[in-house]
Amino acid sequence: MTFAPLGITAAALANESVLDVARRAGAPLGNSCGGVGVCTRCKVRVVEGSEALSAPTSIELRFGAANRFAAGERMACQAVVTGDCTVTTTYW
Ligand code: FES
Repeated sequence: MTFAPLGITAAALANESVLDVARRAGAPLGNSCGGVGVCTRCKVRVVEGSEALSAPTSIELRFGAANRFAAGERMACQAVVTGDCTVTTTYW
């Protein structure tokens, strides 16, 4: 997967979330709940390859709606990477 515009790429291991891959690849991605799914600080926007991410979890749907996530925005700690995709944030 790719973290744009940082130019960081990394292959996801089995069952890794976007946040897992970001941590391993050195892409600085906000989070303050440890990936439990309640802080929404890990919000990313999917630039390409949304089909390569798992479907939103119930907690992601609930907290994403409460925090007015836009279309294409995902919680990196909840989205499991299943293929090639590109994500970005407002602060990269
Ligand atoms: S790290 Fe807190 S919601 Fe994802």
